[in-house]
Amino acid sequence: LQNDKKSGPLAGKKVVVTAGGTVERIDPVRYISNDSSGKMGFALARAARAMGAQVTLIAARTDEAPPRDADIELVRVESAQDMYEAVTDRWADCDILIKAAAVADYRPRHSAESKIKKSGDTMTLELVKTTDILESLGKMKDKQFLIGFAAETGNAEYYAKDKLVRKNLDLIVANDVAVEGAGFGTDTNIVSVYDANGLVLDLPLVSKDEVARRVLQLAAERVAGALL
Ligand code: CTP
Ligand code: CA
Repeated sequence: LQNDKKSGPLAGKKVVVTAGGTVERIDPVRYISNDSSGKMGFALARAARAMGAQVTLIAARTDEAPPRDADIELVRVESAQDMYEAVTDRWADCDILIKAAAVADYRPRHSAESKIKKSGDTMTLELVKTTDILESLGKMKDKQFLIGFAAETGNAEYYAKDKLVRKNLDLIVANDVAVEGAGFGTDTNIVSVYDANGLVLDLPLVSKDEVARRVLQLAAERVAGALL
């Protein structure tokens, strides 16, 4: 079924995209999550496919339905841990990995088997850190081209560059979600892309489809360049 389209700048490449907000269970009816429409990740998956790649989309909870494209392998996950496992399973033969997902930084230490009943006037939930998926992948990096996202509210450049270095990424796509048109759930975004040497792409307000195409073009050029 997969990959009848064999031409394009990403032909023969395996691209893994993660999207959505992970769900960290408190009990069977409650969870902690992050805002995420899934739109940016879905746009990346579609754009990679259109450029000839073999695409796997690993999606956690999303407001929008994922693309129904038989040529995009869709893997549904719930928690950060599930996403970590799904990504590492596909890591060995992956060429480009893009983490557009909003991964929960903390999860409840205990996830109750049955619904927690209300009792006292206050309730304390103990949270523990999740695995930083990108940071783990950055440590295992071999031939893979690794792209992270940084959604910030202010100081986007500073935080994005720090994450790029800390997680050993090839590119980071930064956006300030407090700016009109760049927030969650919109069809548009305003992003700046950095590599280890600094700014490499600065886009005005454009559609998430356009952001996806431009980021993947950049990745395709760099992956091809590395083979020369
Ligand atoms: N990320 C990840 N695993 C986590 C947390 C984040 O893989 N447990 C990834 C995200 O998918 C994103 C990038 O790391 O591509 C940056 O996420 P972000 O939340 O901005 O960075 P953090 O390192 O979690 O820092 P903070 O939330 O404190 O800003
Ligand atoms: Ca985070």
